This record gives sequence, structure tokens and C-alpha cells, in this order.
Amino acid sequence: MLINLNNVVEKYYQFWTRLADTKSKVRILPIDFNTSWTRIIWIQKKYFLGAFFCETLIQIFYTLVPLFIGAIIEQQRFSLFVYLTGAWLLAIVGEFAGIYCSILLQMQCINSIQYNAYQFFLCVDPLYHTLRSSGKLFAKIERGARAYEDFLDLFMLDLVPTVMSIFTVIASFLWIDVRLGLLCFILLLVIAVANITLSLLTGAAFEKKLIDADDSVKALSVESLTQVQLVRSAFATNEIARKAYNKNNKLMFTESTAWVASSASTLITRILYLGSIFILGTAVIKAILSGTVSTLIGTTILLAYIRGTYEIIKIGRRLRKLLKSVTRISDLFLFVRTFGKQSFPVLSNQLSKQALHEVEEKIDSPTITISITNLDFEYNTKAKIFESHHLSLEAPATKTNKLYGIIGPSGMGKTTLLSIIGGQLKPSKGSITINGIDVYSIDDSLRKRLVAIQGQIASSLSGTLRSNLLLGLPHDKQVYTDKEMVQTLKEVGLWSIFEEKDGLNTLIGESGLTISGGQRQRLNFAGLYLRAMYYNPRVILIDEPTSSLDEISEKAITTMISHLAQHAITLVIAHRIKTIENAIGIMDFSLLSEDKDIKFYNLVDLEKKSLYYRRLIQGHIKLDI
Ligand SMILES: Nc1ncnc2c1ncn2[C@@H]1O[C@H](COP(=O)(O)OP(=O)(O)OP(=O)(O)O)[C@@H](O)[C@H]1O
Ligand SMILES: [Mg+2]
Repeated sequence: MLINLNNVVEKYYQFWTRLADTKSKVRILPIDFNTSWTRIIWIQKKYFLGAFFCETLIQIFYTLVPLFIGAIIEQQRFSLFVYLTGAWLLAIVGEFAGIYCSILLQMQCINSIQYNAYQFFLCVDPLYHTLRSSGKLFAKIERGARAYEDFLDLFMLDLVPTVMSIFTVIASFLWIDVRLGLLCFILLLVIAVANITLSLLTGAAFEKKLIDADDSVKALSVESLTQVQLVRSAFATNEIARKAYNKNNKLMFTESTAWVASSASTLITRILYLGSIFILGTAVIKAILSGTVSTLIGTTILLAYIRGTYEIIKIGRRLRKLLKSVTRISDLFLFVRTFGKQSFPVLSNQLSKQALHEVEEKIDSPTITISITNLDFEYNTKAKIFESHHLSLEAPATKTNKLYGIIGPSGMGKTTLLSIIGGQLKPSKGSITINGIDVYSIDDSLRKRLVAIQGQIASSLSGTLRSNLLLGLPHDKQVYTDKEMVQTLKEVGLWSIFEEKDGLNTLIGESGLTISGGQRQRLNFAGLYLRAMYYNPRVILIDEPTSSLDEISEKAITTMISHLAQHAITLVIAHRIKTIENAIGIMDFSLLSEDKDIKFYNLVDLEKKSLYYRRLIQGHIKLDI
């Protein structure tokens, strides 16, 4: 009979999933990075203490086994052997119980750290992200989370057993003969002190350097992989490869030196340990000769010494690894603590019911308002983009055209303003409200209904065309049929490209690298359009939607923008004047330095007021140059 292997494998998987039942026992725990890193272990003290006690008792038992056997043989009592076997069986079961506790503890630590750190970076004010490499963030999270596993492994499965068995050996010697016990204690103390000192020295000398070297490898690797287009177009592949080589080389060099240093300290301890066996062995032989100890007990206690204390030669290395884990965990905690603050809620809704009710009412008010007062904003570079600026814009929701344009020279702060209104960049001072609701006091579920935004840089997540189009829309119900999505893609002129491939299931690479810049831009616009049509937000913000488009695509997008502007106040930063030719008001950033009031002018007034605009329509300058 032919056995279906896949079936067997699946059954085996199901069997263990049911039996281990970890699902009901583990969960992601919340972590406050401002408290001690040990808290997450303490929260799970049930598992920690369970693993600790099981390990401790078992090690004491195993260390004593040779002595038990020696005593049983000396007394020649078979019944004692039966008891010993029973106790041994219990120890094996107990060992498994300890490992089970330890696994649950480790898994909860690793995954909780990973999730909480990731969520922190996701929610932290985007300003703090701009100068940090994502590879470095990734390296810190990964290393920090894994370090918990190492820490607990070392502590539970290495250090605790080693220390326990050493103490059991010393106690056994003391019990048999006080002088032998003291000698054993002194010998082990000398070995331990020598070994620990050498290992800690190695740790102190290398660990920080190892973290830095590893960070720098990850930072470069991740960036060069995600920015592959830039690297190639700058013909810098060789250069980056060389940098990667050097960084990896440095890491390898530091790592191997650290290992050599640590192995050398183990070697020294090994020699000391051999010396201790020689001295103790001589003392035991003397004790046997003088009749203080029987030959059998003398032999078994020496065997117990070798079995129970051999691990001492690794104690320093383990301690070093333990400290390495602690350094790595602390490094992640410190990094998170000093990264920047989480200045506005993004994921969780922290509003009270009362506040929520008020917001709900304001969202649907008949007049749409955008109000900015006393706006101060600067990036970390300290150049002020806005200083005591104001903006006030109002339009009845029923007005059929609510399209406003924004123009101005490059680098003046147009994108920054849109990000501020859209709740992406919280300013240091000033209030930003839409319909009287502070944009920064609400969470994403409400913000979606207040504002929709399309950023200047077109991008996408790796996944299908469908998942990219539906990003930000509810997942628990069907909000758009395939037919509707296809219709939108047709309107933006994208369907013919995807139709030839896998339609809505076409895979799109990370950052949208599998499609052209203009296609990416249209895809982002299609996503915005679908979000806006579903949530019906009060304000729509679009940053240069047509900058990479041909005239036909521009016309299509412009028509769709007019449609959006029937529902919401729609602010569009325009690369080309055509995109905003139907605007009822235009804001010109070149006027901002004189006027603290950010105003929208109709075209006639703007022409009178702005030299930049006059030169623009006369064709002397192109927009955004
Ligand atoms: N993340 C950032 N960190 C530091 N400085 C920034 C950051 N983003 C923008 N800037 C600076 O802030 C200024 C305004 O940038 P912004 O992107 O708002 O300009 P813009 O008017 O949209 O320009 P463009 O027309 O080129 O898109 C620029 O001088 C830029 O150098
Ligand atoms: Mg811009």
C-alpha cells in the first residue's frame, strides 16, 4: 500500500498541535521599553520558576547518581536499585516539564519583544525615522529578541545546572570528609575565578564592537537591497559590493578574534581543571589508604566530581554569553528609549466614548473647514519651514467644486504642509484641525474618515495588485468587487497592463519596482481614489499626482480629481498647471515668506500678486524647478 507522505506529515503536525496546545498558553505580552528588560520574564514567573526548580532538582539528582549507585552496590540491596530507577524516571519526566516551561517562556519573550519593538517603530513620529536606516532597526530588533532566547537557554539549561551540580559535588565531599570537601571547594573556586575573569574581560573587550560591526553590515545590506534601482543607476554596484565586503570582513575579523580570545581562556581553565583532578585524586587515594573512605566511595565520588564539575571550564564562557545577551537586550531597550517619541496615536484608539461621540458629530458637519493656527515646523536639520503661520479654509460640503491648488518653488515646504494637515508630521507648535477635530488626537480609524492622502513618492508593498489597491480598506468584508477595481484601473489607464499579466492577482514587488514610475503613480492614485470613495473623507490631499504622466493619463487623473473635489475639499500640489486649472483657489508658496497667512487666491488675484505665477504662465519657468 502506498503511503501518502504529505498526509502523514500533516497528521503528525496536527497531532503535536493538539497535544502541545501552546495556543492556549502563549500570547504576545505588552512591553514598556521604559521599564527594566527583566520585567517580561518576571510577568511570566510561573514558567520561569517552573523551569528553574525542575532544572535545579534534576541536576542535584543526576550529580548524586554515581554516589547512589556506589552506596547501593556497597549495601548490595536490589530494592534500593528499584527506587533509584523510579526516581530516575521521575527526573526524566521532570526534565521535560522544565523544558516545556522554558520553551513557553522563551517564545513569549522573543515574539513579544519582536512585536512590541516593531509596533513602536511603526507608531513613532515619522520625523525620527528619516535619518535612521531600516536595516539597523531590523538588526536591533532581531538581535534583541534572539538574545532573550540565548539568555534563558544559558541561564536555565547551562548556568543553573552547572552551578547546582558543582554545589552538589562540594556538599558530597564535605559530607564524606570535611578536609576533602574544603580542598574541593578551594580548587573549584580558583578555577571559577580564573575562568570568569578571563571570559568577562573578553566580553567587555569585544561585545560593543561586535554589535556595531553587525549593525553596520545589516544597515548596508538592507539598504542596498531595497534601493537596488538607485545603486544600479548610479553604477555603484561595485562600490556597494566592496563596502559590503569590507564590513563583513570587519565583522568576521572581530568575531573570530573574540572566539580565539574566549577559547584561549577556556584552554587555561582546562589545564587548571586537570590540575584539580590530579590534586583531588591524590587526596582521595590518601584518604582511601588511611581508611577514612572506602575504595568504592572514593572511586564514585571522584567520578561524581568529573561528571558534576566538568562544565566549570565553560562557566566563564557561559557567563560571557549571558552578559552578551544582556548587552544585546539592553542595547535594544536603550535604542528604543532614545529613538524618539510616540507623539500621536496611530494604532490604538485612545479616545473616550464622549470624545468619540463629539468627533463623530463634527466629521459630518455641513461645512468643511481646515484650520491651522500658529504653525511652527522644522525638521531635525533645524531649518524653519513654518513659523507662526496660519491657514483657514472653509467650504460647504454641498459645493460642487472644492478643488484648491498649491504651487511653489521646490523645497519650500509644500509636501511638508500636506503631511502636517494629513496627520503625518506633528508640528512642534500649532493646532491643526479639520472640521474642528485635532488631526493628531485621533487614531487611524477616524482619520480615514476625515482625510485621505496621496504622498509625493509613489510606492507599493510587495503583494498582489488587489492587496495594494485595498490597502487601508476594511478586510473583514468586501468593499469593492473585482469589477469595480478593474473599472478604476481602466480609468487611470492601468488595466491593459495588468490584464495581460495575472489581472488583479499580478504580483507587485517591494516598493513597486516591478512597474514603471508613472504606473506606480497611477496605482497609488487608484488606491487613493478607492479609499476616498469608500470613506468619503472631508479633505483629500494629493501631492503631485501627474508629475510622471503623459498628457492622456494626466487628463484622466485630472477628471477623477474633479470628481473627488465634488465630495471633499481637495488640495492638490501640482506639477503642471493643467492639473489644477479648475481650482477655485491657488496657494503660492513663493508668497509665504512675506505673508504669515497662508491664503488661496483666485487666478486673477494670484496673477496680480505673484511674480512666480506670472512667470510660470508666461512659460519663463516650469513648475517645481
Ligand atoms: N525628512 C526630512 N528631514 C529633513 N529635512 C527635510 C525632510 N523632508 C524635507 N526636508 C527639507 O524641508 C524642506 C521642504 O521640503 P518639502 O518636501 O516640503 O518641499 P516641497 O515644497 O514639497 O518641494 P518639492 O517641490 O521639491 O517637492 C526642503 O528644503 C527639504 O530639504
Ligand atoms: Mg514636495
